[in-house]
Amino acid sequence: IPVENIRNFSIVAHVDHGKSTLADRLLEMTGAITKNSGTSQVLDKLQVERERGITVKAQTASLKYTLNSREYLLNLIDTPGHVDFSSEVSRSLAACQGVILLVDANQGVQAQTVANFYIAFGKDLVIIPVLNKIDLKNADPVAVSGQLRTLFGFSENDILKVSAKLGTGVEDVLKAIVNRLPPPPVNRDAPFRALLFDSWYDRYRGAVILVYVTDGTVQVGDEIVTMHSGKNYEIKSVGLLRPYEEPTYKLSAGQVGYLTCNMRSTKEACIGDTLHHRNQPVSVLPGFKSANPMVFAGVYPMDQSQHVTLRSAIEKLILNDSAVTVSTDSSPALGQGWRLGFLGLLHMEVFSQRLEQEYDAQAIITAPSVTYKARIFGEKNVKHYGGSEITITNPAYFPDPCIVTEFLEPMVMGTIITPDTYLGSVLSLCMERRGTQQSSTNIDNHLVMMKFLLPLNEIVVDFHDHLKSISSGYASFDYEECGFVPSKLVKLNILLNGIIVEELSMVVHASKASSAGRKICLKLKDIIPRQLVEIAIQAAVGGKIVARETLKAYRKDVTAKLYGGDVTRRKKLLDRQAEGKKKMKLVANIKLPREAFIDVLKR
Ligand code: GTP
Repeated sequence: IPVENIRNFSIVAHVDHGKSTLADRLLEMTGAITKNSGTSQVLDKLQVERERGITVKAQTASLKYTLNSREYLLNLIDTPGHVDFSSEVSRSLAACQGVILLVDANQGVQAQTVANFYIAFGKDLVIIPVLNKIDLKNADPVAVSGQLRTLFGFSENDILKVSAKLGTGVEDVLKAIVNRLPPPPVNRDAPFRALLFDSWYDRYRGAVILVYVTDGTVQVGDEIVTMHSGKNYEIKSVGLLRPYEEPTYKLSAGQVGYLTCNMRSTKEACIGDTLHHRNQPVSVLPGFKSANPMVFAGVYPMDQSQHVTLRSAIEKLILNDSAVTVSTDSSPALGQGWRLGFLGLLHMEVFSQRLEQEYDAQAIITAPSVTYKARIFGEKNVKHYGGSEITITNPAYFPDPCIVTEFLEPMVMGTIITPDTYLGSVLSLCMERRGTQQSSTNIDNHLVMMKFLLPLNEIVVDFHDHLKSISSGYASFDYEECGFVPSKLVKLNILLNGIIVEELSMVVHASKASSAGRKICLKLKDIIPRQLVEIAIQAAVGGKIVARETLKAYRKDVTAKLYGGDVTRRKKLLDRQAEGKKKMKLVANIKLPREAFIDVLKR
């Protein structure tokens, strides 16, 4: 197929606006899958995605479409729709010339619609606005078109109206892709060059990598080099995804397809790498903005005998999800494990779910924390830490405040779109989370868009859930990283009978130390079973106790059998019991069942 007849595009949308449904319809209408084949949402391959109804891993499909008796190859690059995965959205768009901006005609513009628009706009892509779900009784295409015109300056004629579910208007989407998008700007006569933009692990073939060929052609048997690592490979197979693998003999510039070349190690398939023929060097393609992990959590095997299984499962999953970072970690209670870095909380949840479902690995995942920084002084200290600015990804390594000039915490710029009835509750939620409002815009008579500067640490755990519950599900949220700012951070230690339990410590803002301390003390009191000695559960910052709970001793009723018995005898027994308890307290060694520990460490 000549380059002029190729179109590369992506569908971007807020969660649940119907991206997968539209993709399925496009596949059906171009004959890639048969209608009513029973498997809805073909592109959501992973079990997690089916269960949660969200697209996690970008999937790609090549569609053949004939218009005015010319055959076109339309490469659909499916993108994930959640805030945590914006790097994957960005990555997928590097291979596209245009996007379909899909908006639910019932819900209207949402926070991710805005974010996605600006990502595409920033990359100079053609944007085709499409209203979906026009079959719904409550759909209001007129109002939502108005929102799109106000916010993004589209003209009424540009906006398509479809029902992805019923197929209404979907043919117009295919036509718009052909007519409005330019063919990829590529050169088939130049030496082979391609961008590696996705990969996954296959047990038999090693890494299967997805490429966008920008120059020349590549075929089975060719020897290629990955620029980043400088390694050589022989191509074993190439093909298109339609949406299942369809082997072809070669791939030419403009095409998007897969190739395998016996890549074995997880580190070899670098997302954003440039591929070329051996002995035919090319200039490097602009790589991707690398995704920085912002949320860290410990991962440990359920029991140490599963250590090796879990390690190999993690390694394999990482080949499929290069945004995750790994380092080894150990804990007295949980044994040997790893500390993994994720893009966000959903990313972490999806990763652990995939670990269990796809690799049958039972893992304990600890409560997440974000990355902090500290500026330290003193020649010796700087030398010890290897620099004057240190990065803290684990509260256990929080530096002594005595050597710190200032702590810094990561911020995000959050976009919230909400119906005005919930304005008050949304504002107080954001204030409570230490947010500061930056702007407020009326999208139409009901919808308001607000920008807040928020500490990442305040939104990483349950912000999204709270926002949804105070707005009956109507408010939407998206964020982008916004650098580090100085902040009053402290390390909150948890003590059991005066002994610090390092695994339970966390970094919090000074203003929240007491409330966080109280919460965790109460939770521990709930979880730790009563023992023969009294247990003091305390939260402390430095030497100062900020919260305390006491877990009363389990009182063995030694007098139970003595009802009605002699009073002095009864008293004697109770005294003896108290003495015994005192002794126990002296040698107090709290038995914390591992399960209880895990309960606290998990959120
Ligand atoms: P993510 O993968 O999470 O981003 O979701 P998505 O955007 O892929 O949404 P999906 O295609 O899974 O659709 C979400 C829900 O909307 C599903 O229950 C669909 O059946 C429904 N839906 C999609 N398109 C239409 C439509 O045109 N009309 C109606 N009535 N429902 C639709």
